[in-house]
Amino acid sequence: MPTLGVNIDHIATLRQTRRTVEPDPVAAAVLAELAGADGITVHLREDRRHMQDRDVRLLRETVRTHLNLEMAATDEMVAIALDLKPDYVTLVPERREEVTTEGGLDIAGQLDRIKSVVATLQGAKMPVSLFIDATTEQIEASAHAGAQFIELHTGPYAEAQREPEQQRELDILSQGTAQAIALDLRVNAGHGLTYWNTAPVARIPGIEELNIGHSIISRAALVGIERAVREMKALIQGRA
Ligand code: PXP
Repeated sequence: MPTLGVNIDHIATLRQTRRTVEPDPVAAAVLAELAGADGITVHLREDRRHMQDRDVRLLRETVRTHLNLEMAATDEMVAIALDLKPDYVTLVPERREEVTTEGGLDIAGQLDRIKSVVATLQGAKMPVSLFIDATTEQIEASAHAGAQFIELHTGPYAEAQREPEQQRELDILSQGTAQAIALDLRVNAGHGLTYWNTAPVARIPGIEELNIGHSIISRAALVGIERAVREMKALIQGRA
């Protein structure tokens, strides 16, 4: 059974819409851990659209499970990771105009660069995970890059509309996991997983951790509304 890494970027997104102090991703991480999260995942983007440097610094000190820093393979981010020392680093592609991470990182097309970033980070005792599409070519390239982990991109599975297509994407993820394990890679997976589509992925043998953000934070907003309104109403009425 895989463990659960909770991606809390959206908490920071909400805060940044007002450039204020709430909701604080540090508090969200504490609560997620209390509820059983096995890891906390954050993406420090080049444009700092959600997570800020202050957040990752504080999370480094407060996260009690493990902190997975998602980042682009740039010199700036490598320097930050070397200073911050998260428990592991997931290298992801990044384009300024994208709404969220769109495809997997092209390892095969930039093997030398990725190899060198992996060596630098793992040399500093931070295991590296490469977020990739579940293709034979990218899995082999990830093994050549020397990374300890890959994270298989579950977006194509999540976007599949009908059962046969979903099953085809699940088979691709299963076969990719088996291929990676045979190459001594450890396997995580994530992106687009929801309360409706996660269970079949969680049953794929060999996947160690699922990273889930959007769906958990979306549900948190909805299941929390009743209590939040009751508390404000009580405050207005002098009952709090
Ligand atoms: N894994 C990676 C590498 C990601 O970039 C993201 C999104 O930031 C996730 C997992 C989580 O995806 P979602 O928010 O769709 O659950």
